[in-house]
Amino acid sequence: MSLPNSTLTVNDRQIEFPVKEGTIGPSVVDISKLYAQTGQFTYDPGFTSTAACESKITYIDGDKGVLLYRGYPIEQLAEHGDFLETCYLLLFGELPTAAQKADFDYRVTRHTMVHDQMNRFFQGFRRDAHPMAIMVACVGALSAFYHDSTDINDEKQRMIASMRMIAKMPTLAAMAYKYSIGQPFVYPKNDLDYTSNFLRMCFAVPCEEYEANPVLARALDRIFILHADHEQNASTSTVRLAGSSGANPFACIAAGIACLWGPAHGGANEAALKMLEEIGRPERVGEYVAKAKDKNDPFRLMGFGHRVYKNYDPRARIMQKTTHEVLAELGIKDDPLLDVAMELEQIALKDEYFIEKKLYPNIDFYSGITLKAMGFPTSMFTVLFALARTVGWISQWAEMIEDPSQKIGRPRQLYTGAPQREYVAVSQRG
Ligand code: CMC
Repeated sequence: MSLPNSTLTVNDRQIEFPVKEGTIGPSVVDISKLYAQTGQFTYDPGFTSTAACESKITYIDGDKGVLLYRGYPIEQLAEHGDFLETCYLLLFGELPTAAQKADFDYRVTRHTMVHDQMNRFFQGFRRDAHPMAIMVACVGALSAFYHDSTDINDEKQRMIASMRMIAKMPTLAAMAYKYSIGQPFVYPKNDLDYTSNFLRMCFAVPCEEYEANPVLARALDRIFILHADHEQNASTSTVRLAGSSGANPFACIAAGIACLWGPAHGGANEAALKMLEEIGRPERVGEYVAKAKDKNDPFRLMGFGHRVYKNYDPRARIMQKTTHEVLAELGIKDDPLLDVAMELEQIALKDEYFIEKKLYPNIDFYSGITLKAMGFPTSMFTVLFALARTVGWISQWAEMIEDPSQKIGRPRQLYTGAPQREYVAVSQRG
């Protein structure tokens, strides 16, 4: 759809630029010809006003607190759907019929094992290696094992790579965890659903029977749905940028995992739990809120704030409910961390600083408490985020490859370094 052109005045010249309209959300001014017409670039560090692509996958209205996957509200998917159905939706654009779902679940399940030689990779890591470091390496290494699905120009290979990635992430994540605690790897069991299978690979041992608690499995499945995609965030943009050069999908997802690791992004769930532990008691919350507001203190409330959500993160609301369900199921009545979190949320939501800057709890604020209660160590939190986000990354990557207007991503810059100068021999440098 097109709207009337926008006119910009550049160097006293009026130039018209086409405006494109999406189905919902802000329209965009197409400034791709700006440099050719004016010799100037735009400047937008952090891409706060720049749309880098066109996409049909996920929509966020940050002011209203809306998140849609392929048009469906996150609340409805989390309430009624399951994670593999969400994967199908993100990948193919529509909810599956019963037959399509059965076929998809079967195909994902049949790809859960990893090449046996991958087991040896793990021996090379220190036992105390961060599992995200292991994930970056092992997911990148998948391209060394699955040569038959690295040709990005072959639609069939792209689909096989997508299925492999969704299927193998839980296996690799569980292996990274098992390695860190010195327990043997547990192979996937294909008659289990996706999330129960993952819980079993993490928490079963060969000498005992294991059955996943269905309430916890459902809660974790919902957490995976909440994390499945989030349009053009830092890690997804990383995957798109890496993929724009024609790199294979395994390498692109490894790049996305590396970006997700940072505490301003996926690493915030680990950082948020550490912060709650550091605060320790509800009485100390005021002290930390004051630190967060202090301009001279770099401390920030982890799990608070979002680039896009300026009302409430809809995922945080569902996450908070899930936290209470999980704690009730496990019979945890008094969790000191939950007390600290609730006190912090109450105080911050009433504080002028947080109200004025529109800082609300985000998804990471409550996810750590839930995952800890389920038995996951903090170092695994971001790995679980990566596991769930893999489908979003791969859907966005595939959309980019199939977009005829796609070209290599190549931002420009405002150069502020030294102008051209002459080389001086070392003997003559003062
Ligand atoms: N605690 C205290 N002050 C904050 C916080 C916070 N958590 N977040 C932002 N601010 C302040 C910030 O100091 C700035 O103040 P001023 O305008 O006076 O300089 C103002 O709010 C705007 O912050 P910003 O850094 O310019 O905003 P941004 O959109 O670039 O950053 C963010 C968004 C998520 C990186 C940031 O809010 C943050 O660092 N939050 C803590 C980390 C976190 O929870 N990240 C998870 C995000 S959700 C999951 C995901 O997407 O991975």
